[in-house]
Amino acid sequence: MERFLRQVEPFWRPHPGQREFLLSPAKTKVLACGRRWGKTEVCAVEIVAALHADHPTQHLILAPTQDQAALLFDRVIGWLERLEIDHVVRRTPHPRVHVGPHTIRARSGHVGRSLRGQEATHLVIDEAAFIPEALITEVALPMLATTDGRCTMISTPHGRNHFWRFFRFGQEGQHGVWSRTAPSAQSPYVSASFLAFQRELISDRAYRVEYEAEFLDGAGCVFRSELVEACLVPRWDAEPRGAVRIGVDWGRYQDATAVAVVVGSRENPALVELHATGDAPWSEQVRWVAEIVDRYPGSIVTCDATGVGDPLVEALRAATRHATLRPFVFTGTSKPGLIDQLVWLIDNGRLKMTPFPDLLREMQHFQMTLSETGHPRLAASAGFHDDRICALALAVSELPSSLSPGIRTAGSRPFSFAKEYPR
Ligand SMILES: Nc1ncnc2c1ncn2[C@@H]1O[C@H](COP(=O)(O)OP(=O)(O)OP(=O)(O)O)[C@@H](O)[C@H]1O
Ligand SMILES: [Mg+2]
Repeated sequence: MERFLRQVEPFWRPHPGQREFLLSPAKTKVLACGRRWGKTEVCAVEIVAALHADHPTQHLILAPTQDQAALLFDRVIGWLERLEIDHVVRRTPHPRVHVGPHTIRARSGHVGRSLRGQEATHLVIDEAAFIPEALITEVALPMLATTDGRCTMISTPHGRNHFWRFFRFGQEGQHGVWSRTAPSAQSPYVSASFLAFQRELISDRAYRVEYEAEFLDGAGCVFRSELVEACLVPRWDAEPRGAVRIGVDWGRYQDATAVAVVVGSRENPALVELHATGDAPWSEQVRWVAEIVDRYPGSIVTCDATGVGDPLVEALRAATRHATLRPFVFTGTSKPGLIDQLVWLIDNGRLKMTPFPDLLREMQHFQMTLSETGHPRLAASAGFHDDRICALALAVSELPSSLSPGIRTAGSRPFSFAKEYPR
């Protein structure tokens, strides 16, 4: 590694935290660092440096989504081009690159089954705190069993979940794990003014998680990370079937429009699709939502009809053909009731979903505060959004019950503020 770092020194130098990571000989390395610290960058360098080995190496990049995995993969390709190393890239069926006897593949965490039985000499898991634990322990780590390979996990923290436990192994010197945590400020490429701005912009709690890389537990959070975690599945063993419910939350100032598609009943709902658009004229957004809705004839679509949402529901009604639309107006009292139904499904481990990192981040920073009049207020903490949560809550609000109509197992209940969320 020292030799490689000397070779690239004219155009790239690790900052001290990155250097320490790169020089550690440990087989399992865990980096829990703040946003923009340079986690993805240093993993790309680690992979490229390993390509100088005489023996063939097989690297597998794993991330919660294919897009996320592609980010690190593309950084590796950037390095190969910069160092003028011959390579052959294939993008389908999934990204992989061959460099002489070495291969680097990039996969999302959604495809656990197709990864079984494969081997790797080096596993790199980006945003490891957002990947289901079972995928890491039951699918990913066994890939190293026959190769005596290495594993690198990098992420910002996400509560005290499996990533935290791997991190603790390193801190306690167990199982040969090396682990470090560092705030974003350790990177000289993150400016102090950017951090000062973020500190103003987002809540203290969110800042401590995102930029100071603290493993905070779920106190004060509406969605407890360990309970959300229990809802994650690495893949669908069988395609979810049943009634289709769709939630649409229109974007407003700086927010995205989000659409969630849930299949099943209140007993076994599965989040099968979640999308968010960027900035686009309303007419385009309506068309975009209609395209998704039209893929599910007979679905019930619960649609945010607050303010500007009202005419948009009518526009959507005109644009879709086989769906039933139900408007929903967000108010200070209707929103807690709606969110509460989603919280219930999660607290009871009913909802199942593959990991959508943006949704998981929204959940991590969705909080309850008290208004000036002492009423509970549910919203994303400052600087974060809750559009994906709202879309999902709208979708699950109309789920049918598969039990006989006489037995009501899970009606909406008033938000139990006093009991569960001490003031
Ligand atoms: N040693 C370095 N030299 C030059 N630029 C660097 C270095 N390390 C990181 N950077 C730059 O800093 C920025 C953030 O890096 P990177 O995307 O790897 O951070 P990250 O910790 O993965 O961020 P995120 O939390 O958003 O995933 C990128 O523009 C990257 O090119
Ligand atoms: Mg990154």
